[in-house]
Amino acid sequence: MTNLTVEAVTCEYRKNPLGMDIKRPRISWKIQSDLRGTMQKAYQIQVAVHQEDFHETIWDTGIVQSDESIQIEYNGPQLESRTRYFYRIKIWDNHDRESDWSETAWWETSLFSSEEWKAEWITPDPKQLDLHSEAAFLLRKEFTLKTGISSARVYGTGVGLYELFLNGGRVGEDLLAPGWTSYHKRLQYQTYDITEQLQVGTNAIGIVLADGWYKGNLVREDHRNIYGDTRAAKLQLHVTYHDGTEEIIVTDPTWKAATGPILFSEIYHGQTYDARLEKEGWSQSHFHDEDWEDTIIPDMPITKLVAQENVPVRVTEVLKPMESFVTPAGDTVLDMGQNMVGRIRFQVRAPKGTRIVLTHAEVLDKEGNIYFGNLKFAKQKVEYIAKGEGIETFAPNFTFQGFRYVKIEGYPGQENGLPLDHFIGEVIHSDMESTGTFECSDPLVNRLQQNIVWGQRGNFLDVPIDCPQRSERLGWTADAQVFIQTALFNYHGGPFFTKWLRDLQADQLPDGNVPFVIPNVEGGKGSAAWGDAATIIPWTVYQTYGDKRLLSDQYDSMKAWVEYIRRQGKNEFLWNTGFHFGDWLALDAKENSFVGATPKDLIATVFYAYSTRILRDAAKVLEKADDVEEYSILLNHIIEQFNQEFVSPAGRLVSPTQTAHIIALMFDMVDGKAKERTAYELNELIMLNDYHLNTGFVGTPYICFALSKGGYHETAVKLLMKDDYPSWLYQVKKGATTVWEHWDSIKPDGSFWSDQMNSFNHYAYGSIGNWMYKVIAGLDMDATSPAYKKIKIEPKFAGISFTSAKAIHESMYGKIVSSWQLTNDQVAVEVVVPPNTTADILLPKAKLVDVYEGDELLVTGDIYSFIETSEGVKVTVGSGSYQFTYPNEEGLRPRFTENTKIIDFLDHQEAVAVLEKVAPGITKPPALFTTKARSLKELVEIGEANLTEDKVKEIMEEINQLEWEEVLV
Ligand code: BGC
Repeated sequence: MTNLTVEAVTCEYRKNPLGMDIKRPRISWKIQSDLRGTMQKAYQIQVAVHQEDFHETIWDTGIVQSDESIQIEYNGPQLESRTRYFYRIKIWDNHDRESDWSETAWWETSLFSSEEWKAEWITPDPKQLDLHSEAAFLLRKEFTLKTGISSARVYGTGVGLYELFLNGGRVGEDLLAPGWTSYHKRLQYQTYDITEQLQVGTNAIGIVLADGWYKGNLVREDHRNIYGDTRAAKLQLHVTYHDGTEEIIVTDPTWKAATGPILFSEIYHGQTYDARLEKEGWSQSHFHDEDWEDTIIPDMPITKLVAQENVPVRVTEVLKPMESFVTPAGDTVLDMGQNMVGRIRFQVRAPKGTRIVLTHAEVLDKEGNIYFGNLKFAKQKVEYIAKGEGIETFAPNFTFQGFRYVKIEGYPGQENGLPLDHFIGEVIHSDMESTGTFECSDPLVNRLQQNIVWGQRGNFLDVPIDCPQRSERLGWTADAQVFIQTALFNYHGGPFFTKWLRDLQADQLPDGNVPFVIPNVEGGKGSAAWGDAATIIPWTVYQTYGDKRLLSDQYDSMKAWVEYIRRQGKNEFLWNTGFHFGDWLALDAKENSFVGATPKDLIATVFYAYSTRILRDAAKVLEKADDVEEYSILLNHIIEQFNQEFVSPAGRLVSPTQTAHIIALMFDMVDGKAKERTAYELNELIMLNDYHLNTGFVGTPYICFALSKGGYHETAVKLLMKDDYPSWLYQVKKGATTVWEHWDSIKPDGSFWSDQMNSFNHYAYGSIGNWMYKVIAGLDMDATSPAYKKIKIEPKFAGISFTSAKAIHESMYGKIVSSWQLTNDQVAVEVVVPPNTTADILLPKAKLVDVYEGDELLVTGDIYSFIETSEGVKVTVGSGSYQFTYPNEEGLRPRFTENTKIIDFLDHQEAVAVLEKVAPGITKPPALFTTKARSLKELVEIGEANLTEDKVKEIMEEINQLEWEEVLV
């Protein structure tokens, strides 16, 4: 009996989503099969309402001959509001098998029309309660229910932030609800199933309301009330009885209001909580609220409510502190061992009125003191005033902190050391599904990967924010754009970016210009590589998940952005006007400048072409023939003009910067001899810089791609493997646990980059992750076939830098693995291809006759096609797990001979290490000697050791006997 099953069924990317207002939701599934080469031949979807047995379906596709298994749009009768739809799927495959029905899954609709909202916005009566008070408001209401409750839902929202309580318990686990959107244009509401929390008789519901992004301090120190100055809530509770009758409880002026223990709560600044002011039992029935104030219906500038689009923000992990210590300055500090984003939860037994203060920071300074300088005006301070009744537990809400270290003041007995087990760190972010891992033989690169992932977690907080600690935390467009491909390897970002793109569209200006930050609270707009988020992000989401609907929804916005650029300046085909950030934070910037040396008009014109290319490709997907033509022509003109303006007739790029060369190559702006020359020059530029980069936000994401693509993969690998300043591993060696904003956030001498702008948790440079997944591990897709329907596995071995690499990505079709390992004698490549996809695999440098798959010679296998090329053996396979092995004859893991080109394999430090190991006592070689020495012999000579030829041979033998790990100490 073989096995074919349908698993992981999702609707709009989610398992059993509650409260969706999408009228034609899309269904996807994954297939499990124990036979290789499984392709779906046909599917059947059934949808039923109010019941799970499918006797009566409202939509039955019948058997559809199709290999589509993702993003299949519901196409049955119009869906109704507040209804649960059950669905199941069955498939047939190319091995003539029929699966069982999948497990029954469901989605539930929320409120489709604004008329269904019966609730009013409410806020405390300003005559009785100061609406500008910093204290959070409590709103409450009691209501009575009959027996026979069958189900109940609450639809709720608020501005700024709200949390719901019912009969003394919290409703749901979401934090920072309703999330951050362009509030005036779109405000999310949340749906909760509260059936179990209700009781027959009297019930009480409560709302806590704080300032949040809506009304709190944001962007500038004196900047508050950005969206409005009135906090308010709106909520509607529907109770259905077994007899089919229904009752609705809504917010209206019968609710009562008060303030409670939260005296202050802000995104940037933290929280002050006076436990003595807790109102015991306030969200339970029979609470005495006679002295509470009234509520009123305020005027609200909100025009549209939408059901929650993003995954919720939640606590996703709990960390224990590593240690606590007293700094030279005398502060008691808790070290979480990881630069994390979220909050501390602690326990304390303290006399009434004890004030415990937690101040959060990312790093210690050179002297070992806790450093708050880079927070700008964000206070990141949590104050708790104890009520003095036994053990008290506390964690702040409506705020988040970016920190590794916490200064603790006032904790009873702290002078004798903090009780570490009374503190935990709760990690908070958008609760996306983890979908990727990258690992290799180099521990520092593995730590870099972890740092990238931590950076993503901390900064994917409902909105892709630039940093989580200083008084900024905004949805900077370039940061999101440069990082998105890496991000979508690591986590499922479908709902996350769908929501954010809707805000981008909502905040895009009528002339097509795109604000610097989304949601737009900053005011700035334009800039190449920033506004291009409008095209790059929808396109990347489409490619990763096959999300054609999102592409189609964003199409006008994408086009408006390209047309906006087109109208700038006098020359339609160059972008040489307006404000640009340029190659932000590049190291070739002038003293005291943030902007790298690459000309802004060069960068802008490349991104103009890039966006135009994406728009043309999107038009192809969406079958907009006229636009395909229009933007193909436009793209050609831009490239032509670029070459006239920025490339000499001899094919030399006018700007001698790394970034200019990188983006010209990466975005196909140069061709033929200019392309070759650009790649060559890029390699030279990097070599002359002792294999160090000097790129910023614009060049860095693509530097290794441009090199690998241009024929200089070894240089790309060397760049990654550098561990002195400036490099990715420099940060790792300096103890970074997230990715820094600047290459020299901490300088080699231990001092910091300026206080003004120095985040230790900024994901932009983490964009190298994309190259690690795609090129080092070789896990990629065929660009013409989105969502990894056609997988491309092309590992690129990396000289002696790595002996293994492995990437796993959970795609829409299922798990993909690309893994390789080199030993002295053998190359092993392991690939997992999910059902209903195929993969083109390149086995680098392999010879057809030598390749085994499992225990059999590849050439005898009959389920794949293969061909030997100059690059190696290419195999095309269907789904399944494959283990390819072949002899390591091509020197993929080279051994030293007298003339081994050291320069190809060792950088300066490594070479020094080799010399010291095999020939102690050699005078330290001069700096840069690796660029001079071409062979081991020369290396030894330059090292000024008078060694005989025999001695050199002896050394080589010794090196070859060493384990590689030992050599590369
Ligand atoms: C942010 C960046 C952003 C930049 C734009 C900074 O303050 O942190 O990451 O892209 O401003 O200039």
